[in-house]
Amino acid sequence: MKLDLPGQTALVTGGSRGIGAATVRLLASAGVRVALHFAKSRDLAETLAKEIAETGQPEPVLVQGDLASETERRKVFEEAVRGLSRIDHLVNNAGIFERNPMDEGHDDALFLARWRHTLNVNLEAAVHLTYLALPAMRARRFGRIVMVSSRAAFRGETDCADYAVSKAGMVNLARCLARAEGKHGITANAVCPGWVETDMAQADLLRDREAILGDIPLGRVATAEDVARAILFYVSPLGSYANGTALGLNGGSFLH
Ligand SMILES: NC(=O)c1ccc[n+]([C@@H]2O[C@H](COP(=O)([O-])OP(=O)(O)OC[C@H]3O[C@@H](n4cnc5c(N)ncnc54)[C@H](OP(=O)(O)O)[C@@H]3O)[C@@H](O)[C@H]2O)c1
Repeated sequence: MKLDLPGQTALVTGGSRGIGAATVRLLASAGVRVALHFAKSRDLAETLAKEIAETGQPEPVLVQGDLASETERRKVFEEAVRGLSRIDHLVNNAGIFERNPMDEGHDDALFLARWRHTLNVNLEAAVHLTYLALPAMRARRFGRIVMVSSRAAFRGETDCADYAVSKAGMVNLARCLARAEGKHGITANAVCPGWVETDMAQADLLRDREAILGDIPLGRVATAEDVARAILFYVSPLGSYANGTALGLNGGSFLH
């Protein structure tokens, strides 16, 4: 099935790799002009933008920045607006997933530094970019905001409570936005994947693939494209009445 959203625009954070890159590809194939944000992977971002332009689809605008930094987030947003003129869809996808167990070592300062970093990149950046995008969306009476959350939002995580808390925060952020901004024609929703075949999950999948698969009734780990399709649903007219929802995409591995 092919969806066409010609002339529309989107800022996708973390578009250089994994779920973000698949989302950039899919949105571009639907005619959306994308601001492809990256942090360190400049080569991957440039190659992806070139690949998309060569197929005749709208060439993405590249925007670079470390989303842990308040200043760089503002720069990312301003460059995206400069490149696209306006942002119809904001996909808060960039994220990190790092071990930070509470029962290892006795270094509270290190524990807190890691905790803050994860919350900054995963949650604060999402709310900051959303805050920046909202005024123009309200003025146009249109906006689609998608949070790339996680299955971890709904279960206890033993080694990375910071990650789980950041992802739960994204789900509730979408709900808050849904109630506050719906009257302005803006929707906010969250996609909540289980394991996805990307760099982020690589080490765990290498170590525990059989156990992970044993827990997934569909018998396979998600592809980045599985998640990208759900994001396209939310920004397209097919998802126009979805607001404040959290879509589990985990092959049935975790039902709630
Ligand atoms: N993979 C999974 O199993 C899984 C499951 C559930 C949810 N998710 C969520 O899906 C989202 C995408 O994950 P993925 O699997 O595609 O991960 P990935 O392949 O590791 O890609 C992460 C992306 O985030 C960007 N990023 C990382 N740190 C950043 C920072 N400080 N500032 C700005 N950008 C930063 C990276 O940019 P550069 O490469 O340019 O540095 C990259 O584009 C994340 O929010 C993740 O939590 C993933």
